[in-house]
Amino acid sequence: MATPPKTYHVKSFGCQMNVYDGERMGELMARQGMSVADDAASADLVVLNTCHIREKATEKVYSEIGRLRRDDGTRPMIAVAGCVAQAEGAEIARRAKVDVVVGPQAYHNLPDLVSKAAKGGLALDTDMPAASKFGALPSRRRVGPSAFLTVQEGCDKFCTYCVVPYTRGAEVSRPFDAIVDEAKALVDAGAKEITLLGQNVNAWEEDGRGLDALIRALDRIEGLARIRYTTSHPNDMTQGLIDAHAQVETLMPYLHLPVQSGSDRILKAMNRSHSRDSYLRILDRVRAARPDIALSGDFIVGFPGETDQDFEDTLSLVADVGYAHAFSFKYSPRPGTPAADMDDAVEAHVADERLQRLQAAIGEGQAAFNAHSVGRRCEILLERKGRRPGQLIGKSPWLQSVHLVTDAAIGDIVTVEIESAGPNSLAGVERVRTAA
Ligand code: 5AD
Ligand code: SF4
Repeated sequence: MATPPKTYHVKSFGCQMNVYDGERMGELMARQGMSVADDAASADLVVLNTCHIREKATEKVYSEIGRLRRDDGTRPMIAVAGCVAQAEGAEIARRAKVDVVVGPQAYHNLPDLVSKAAKGGLALDTDMPAASKFGALPSRRRVGPSAFLTVQEGCDKFCTYCVVPYTRGAEVSRPFDAIVDEAKALVDAGAKEITLLGQNVNAWEEDGRGLDALIRALDRIEGLARIRYTTSHPNDMTQGLIDAHAQVETLMPYLHLPVQSGSDRILKAMNRSHSRDSYLRILDRVRAARPDIALSGDFIVGFPGETDQDFEDTLSLVADVGYAHAFSFKYSPRPGTPAADMDDAVEAHVADERLQRLQAAIGEGQAAFNAHSVGRRCEILLERKGRRPGQLIGKSPWLQSVHLVTDAAIGDIVTVEIESAGPNSLAGVERVRTAA
């Protein structure tokens, strides 16, 4: 690996925070004078920005590395980044030919690591330094209409199934001023909507101010039309944040609030520190503040010890809440987490069947929520081209994808009447607002 790479390609897996990190790594490479390659096959440097949250994470990385080998026996420089790098980077470097291993808290050092690797040998950095990486990242240049902004990282909650406290470290909030500056830079670079990201985004705080104070500050940025945030923990859902949903017009009517299970017994074993009822009461308060809010959640089925009754409790919670959208996963034991040592594993075929039933229930709820949107007039932020000529796809305030034919441009916000609904998207027609 004698010559320094001239082109790069970043491939991100996993959550939105990884997408954000991937973009920032790309910006770092661009600042070094490297240009982006169309795909991994033609790049001099490939960054695999990995996710460790569920099963086969490490195997997936090995197979991605294998796929980078070219017919002529050569391969690009390979950097393994992200959460698998943090958890198992040294082991990967022992078993596979990679050049750089860099954890999620150290990727600001990527250019140095790449230079070091170009001279030969492995360059590894999985430190979790006290000083944040963010200060060392270049400013944002061009972004799409909807941009991510990481405001908080890490987790102190230690749910028994989860690797995040180990891969992303303790809860850290980025400074208020740095976030506001980055938000302004994103708006200058073309963003109309910003989604604030954090593993526990609603745990963001500075000097006693919470996420609601940050949202209120961002609301004052000229040109920023929409604010969203994800992912939240029920216990950090303060009244101030709930009130913001009633009062801040740019804060979109959407809340992703994972619950994981509808059974108190399982919630306890998961160390979730909230109950089914306390979760439902939070949603009551959220709905009182913003009656049209779209709710979303995460669920795990097949957690150790989950009985048929526990699972029925999850199904009944889904029916009670009426989610607009939700993610559901089969429990996957993660090495090093407390649940990985628990007895009473649920048989795979039982977990599979539960996952199917849960996904069907969630899908029905989503279809009902979408069907309920027909006839609604709402603003759509246009984000990308559709497949048909003249067609653009945008997002409703409730995060639904909406297809429409329009002369407007990507990045515009148009008023649309929803005409039809499918399970995963809506179709609408543009309406010009007539003066009253
Ligand atoms: N197994 C299955 N799903 C998991 N999640 C987190 N850890 C695991 C695991 N070990 C799910 C949770 C979380 C989402 C990001 O991933 O539902 O909210
Ligand atoms: Fe995956 Fe969690 Fe890391 Fe995101 S933070 S990439 S979900 S392991």
